[in-house]
Formats: sequence, structure tokens, C-alpha cells
Amino acid sequence: MSTAALSFHGQSLELPVITGTENEVGIDIARLRGTSGAITLDPGYGNTGSCKSAITYIDGEAGILRYRGYAIEELAAGASFVEVVHLLVYGVLPGAEELQQFQDSLTIHTLLHEDMKKFYEGFPPSAKPMSVLSAMVASLSTYYESNDDINIIRLLAKLKTIAAFSYKKSIGQPFVYPRNDLDFVSDFLHMMFAVPSEEYLVNSVVRDTLDMLLILHADHEQNCSTSTVRMVGSSGADLFSTISTGISALSGPLHGGANTAVINMLEVIKKDGANYAKYIAKAKDRNDPFRLMGFGHRVYKNFDPRARLIKQAADRVLDQLGLTDPLLDIAKNLERVALEDEYFIERKLYPNLDFYSGIVYRAIGLPTSMFTVLFALGRLPGWIAHFREMRNSRDRLHRPRQLYTGPEHRPFVAIEHR
Ligand code: CMC
Repeated sequence: MSTAALSFHGQSLELPVITGTENEVGIDIARLRGTSGAITLDPGYGNTGSCKSAITYIDGEAGILRYRGYAIEELAAGASFVEVVHLLVYGVLPGAEELQQFQDSLTIHTLLHEDMKKFYEGFPPSAKPMSVLSAMVASLSTYYESNDDINIIRLLAKLKTIAAFSYKKSIGQPFVYPRNDLDFVSDFLHMMFAVPSEEYLVNSVVRDTLDMLLILHADHEQNCSTSTVRMVGSSGADLFSTISTGISALSGPLHGGANTAVINMLEVIKKDGANYAKYIAKAKDRNDPFRLMGFGHRVYKNFDPRARLIKQAADRVLDQLGLTDPLLDIAKNLERVALEDEYFIERKLYPNLDFYSGIVYRAIGLPTSMFTVLFALGRLPGWIAHFREMRNSRDRLHRPRQLYTGPEHRPFVAIEHR
């Protein structure tokens, strides 16, 4: 086994070097503190591997993303979301019979306990769908005892019902119950858009596009929400409580909330006469908090392969549905201007997954308030896969260290003498 040498306080330490499947190299510091008394410091964990994982491989320099060894481009072109869920969670693509059984089990668990509907009455009409989603998922743990295997199926089946109900609540329409004769994505669209007075027919372009988008969101190794899931799950917390924290982490604008922020940003730029130069200048100005939303990534220093696929999908779906969207033109121009700008070139900032996804969601009629919820729906199998992997590999309790920078020891002085 190769080692890395660390020289510290006149002492030389040999640290094991671990190599991954794709020859990625990690220096194992698990025994560093025990032997040297020192810890490593890595705010934001940009250089820290928190686990070994067999789920997703990313090469950020080359723009490669694979789930369980399969290229994202091939999965997006040929697989269904439900197949990808099976692949991520159980590690293998299902055969035809297995897929049918899996689909059936995801169908029969879609209903929410009737009492849970009352929770929605307690939320204000303005409640953010991501907050509702997180609260409702956490409350599933009050209904179902801790038995991870069946709860995994329950959660995969019920999240879309919870999501669609939260949308119906936000627009004041009656809930539409899940239908067992519809496939996964069609059932979700039906619950979102059907109204009692008329029949809702699922458009196959809309269904296929959403199915592909869910695949593209399904996993992305140790991102903020997935790391949160592994962190919380390492304490032994149940599946529902754990996943609800992943949903909360995803809601922020630097993570899943970016898809909503992109559309808001494009609207502002449109109203401002499509003045790209002004917004590029703002993004570059250190004293201005404005960032180009949907640009940049911690791992990708090249094109995000998902962004490429989503951009193609945006063109395709607008064409197939006979629509135009001025925001797509603004996004394309903004991308062009940014990619020619030295600031973005130097920092290797490219469009990420969220840059074009909102445009596709808009084209297929999904409301902006639901964009991040859709991200959560797509990411759920990834969170679950990591939760299972972490539990099965008996990961230690996640508990980072810190460097304390507060006051030194000082005597307590009673209030009357202060
Ligand atoms: N606009 C302008 N400048 C940027 C941007 C941006 N979108 N992203 C990074 N930079 C600059 C940043 O100011 C810094 O400059 P300097 O070196 O002069 O200080 C440099 O690029 C490196 O940025 P960083 O913040 O250290 O990079 P990070 O790895 O910590 O941040 C990020 C990654 C995604 C948080 C960041 O790029 C960002 O805020 N992007 C906009 C939000 C966004 O689109 N988020 C979705 C991420 S992809 C989907 C997901 O994972 O949820």
C-alpha cells in the first residue's frame, strides 16, 4: 500500500493512501489525531472525503457523471426514472419482472394516512412548499415505525403525493388522490393538475421530459443535502427524520433553491431591458452580493453534463410544445457573455444543473414555487441510497472536530459584581 509522508513537529508520519475505482487518490488521516494530536482544517470540506461510496462517480474536470458506473447521458436517453431509482437504491438495474414488481410496490404505497391531510390545514396558504415537504416527511415517522426497508418504499411512493398536495394547498384547490393506473410521473402530474370538473390527460412530451429531469437530479455524491443525510443518519435517526433534513438543506439558494433563483434573476434581467453587461459586472463585483445564479459548482470545473442535457431538453420541449420563452433567449445570451468573460474563464465557472432546469419546468407548466420540490423529488433516491449505504457499512457517528478561537479560560463573575 502506498503512503504519504507528513512532517510535523520534527516527527514524520506515514499516512495510508487509498485509491478509488477511477484512480482518485485519498490520504487517509483517520489516525492523524491519535498519533500527532493535530486535526486537519478544511472549512466547507472542499478537500475532505467523508466516506467511501460505490454510488456515484463525478470527474469535475472532465465533466463526467455516472450512477453505479452508468453514464448519465445513457441513463437520461434510455432509462426511466423508476429504473434509476432501483439502480441507485439497490445497486442494480432491474430486469423486466423486477421492475414491474418495484413499480407496483411504489404504486400501492402512494396514499397518505387520512389524518395527515389535517396537517395541511395548519399551514398558512403562503407556506413555502419546501418547508411543507420537509415537515410532512418528518411527520411520517410518527405514523410508521422504524423499519427501513418498507419505509424506503413508502417514502419513495408518498413523496410525490405530499408534494402535489402541498401545491394544491398553496393554490387553494382540493387534493387529488393518487391513481394506481398511472405510471410514476403521470400520477404526479395528475395529482398536480387535475381538477374535479374536468378530465386531465397527461401529455407524453411533458411526462417524458419530467421523467428525464428527475433522472438528472437523482444523485450527485456528497453534496450539501446528501452529506446532511449521511451526517444525521449516522446518529441512528430514522429514515423520515433524516430525509427531512436533506430537504431542508436542499432548500437554500446556493443548493437546490438555485433553480428558482435563476428564474427570478432572468425575470429581473428581462425587465431591465436584457442588460447582460450590467449583471455580469454585478456578479464580478466583490462588494455586490449578486451572483450569477445557476453558474459555478464546487466540483465541476468544466461543463456540468446535466446542464448540457437540460439545455438540449429546453430547446426540444419548447419546439415540441410549440412554445417560445423569452427567458431562454436571455439565459443563452447570458451564458455566452459569461463564458467569454475573463472572470468566469479564470474561475472555471460554467452553467450548472439549475441554469436551464427552470426554463424546462416552465415550458411543461410547472409553477416556479415547485421547482425546488421537483429537485427534492428527483434527489430522493440518491439520499436513500446514501442512507442505506451508510447504515450497511456501519459508518461511525459523524462528528467533525474544530479549532477553537474563542476567549481563553476566564473566571465567572456573579451578576451583581459585573
Ligand atoms: N457568480 C459570480 N461569481 C462566482 C459564482 C457565481 N455564480 N460562483 C462562484 N463565483 C466566484 C466566487 O466569488 C469566487 O471568486 P474569488 O475566487 O474571486 O473569491 C470563485 O468564483 C470561487 O467561488 P466559491 O464560492 O469559492 O466556490 P464554491 O465552490 O464555494 O461555490 C457555488 C460553489 C455553487 C456555491 C457557487 O458557484 C455559487 O454560489 N453559485 C451560484 C448558486 C448556484 O447556482 N448553486 C447551484 C449549485 S449546482 C446544484 C446544486 O448542487 O444544488
